[in-house]
Amino acid sequence: MPLSQALYDELRRRPLKPSRGMRANLISGVLNWPHLVMVLLQRVLAFLQRLVDYGPFVFVNTRRDVIEVMERDQDFPSGPVVGPAMVCGPFVLGTDRGALRSADLELLWEAFYGVTDKPLPGGGTAGRTIAQPQNEALFANIRTAVVGIIAAAESRENGELDLIQEVLRPVCVAIVQQHLGVGPPDDKWLKVLWEILETLALRIILPDAVDLNNTEDPISADLVWAKSTLKTAINEAIDQAIRAPGYNGTIVERMYAVLVRKAPELSRAELRGTISRNVAGLAITACHPIAKAAAHAVDIMLSSETALDGATAAAKMADEDLFWGFILEALRFFPLFPLLTRACPHDTAIGHGALRKVRGGQAIQVGLLPAMFDAKAVPSPQQFRDDRPPEDSMVFGRGIHACFGFQFARNVLVATLMPLFARGIVRAPGRDGRLRFDLLVPKSLTVKLLPANASA
Ligand code: HEM
Repeated sequence: MPLSQALYDELRRRPLKPSRGMRANLISGVLNWPHLVMVLLQRVLAFLQRLVDYGPFVFVNTRRDVIEVMERDQDFPSGPVVGPAMVCGPFVLGTDRGALRSADLELLWEAFYGVTDKPLPGGGTAGRTIAQPQNEALFANIRTAVVGIIAAAESRENGELDLIQEVLRPVCVAIVQQHLGVGPPDDKWLKVLWEILETLALRIILPDAVDLNNTEDPISADLVWAKSTLKTAINEAIDQAIRAPGYNGTIVERMYAVLVRKAPELSRAELRGTISRNVAGLAITACHPIAKAAAHAVDIMLSSETALDGATAAAKMADEDLFWGFILEALRFFPLFPLLTRACPHDTAIGHGALRKVRGGQAIQVGLLPAMFDAKAVPSPQQFRDDRPPEDSMVFGRGIHACFGFQFARNVLVATLMPLFARGIVRAPGRDGRLRFDLLVPKSLTVKLLPANASA
């Protein structure tokens, strides 16, 4: 499928990349530095807690309080915080309990994982193993692609490759283009898709007071363009699914087939709207988060001899469960979301026994990172261990909003990173070997392949 005229026109209308300003740079700088987040949350803010509690935010740091807030989603909903930042329409993280969320989750589970059992599993997939035969071909393709990328790097004199630009970016863009079915396999589209999803993801992670009607504001112009271009591509994919119904394998086509069968009363416009906002949500959650998680995990593992040796041995044995244990533990040290935000619509209190009042209107900053290092609840928290019970990890969230994509992300991360560790990698020397970001988005991390005889 070539680039359509409509998409070509969208690409030509692209505004200049906006500068996001000091505030966004400062927040990103802190969040990209997990040690600093930990010190701020565990020492500084915990010390100032009583004072801070009078302000607009309440910080929760202990494992017990964090679990309580995440599990009391009716008192501390996610929707009022995340919903308004979802410019492509409501997606499950932005909706709390209710008919829309239930219907969308049912659609997502069936189209994405082929799961139709009732009652639907509450929350995400963490801790639950799901066979996902319809996604297996993707995982196999990723493995093959990464092996090819490694082979190309072998022929370079320095044996180096940029993990982000040469491995993670193409893998994650292919998930959206090939697997979800968004846009054509055209180089111009593939290049811009990463940037479109970056703009939309940053909107959710770094919300700004952006007025989308203000065409003079460069951040708003970029967001409006990103949304309109993604929607155009998704609409074309829906047209294609309508023209040639039946499973060709993409998520857009699977969603179309599920909706036609389960909700024949939906008008064409409703059907289009439902697929469009859910596929946009999936595209945003499946691209940059996977790349970012892989970058964080590799960065941590390259910094610890124990972790690097263990992960390399697990990869050489092709032991996926053991290898995943290393990734999950590495993400505990550098999680994607060290903090999550929840709303608090009514006055309430948290903390069984030692009650701490929360006023309606305050926002709760939920410290996933400090909770995973809470010495009162987590054995030897500072130690890198590959044998922690997976339910101890909060990297994929908790409660009703726990990550829907957990099983998928796990398979993609293993398929992408295991061939690299099995081949043998170390951090490249100098600046190139440091993980670098553009705001929160990983930009480069160069690794060096070990000499072939060392990795035998
Ligand atoms: C390694 C990468 C990923 C990490 C670390 C991650 C982490 C998380 C976390 C912490 C949450 C909870 C957010 C909250 O409670 O506010 C979440 C929710 C969610 N994630 Fe992921 N995620 C990842 C990849 C994915 C992928 C690949 C998908 C889609 C295929 C996905 C889809 C979702 C959805 C839909 C929700 C909301 C679930 C709900 O509200 O029921 N995530 N994720």
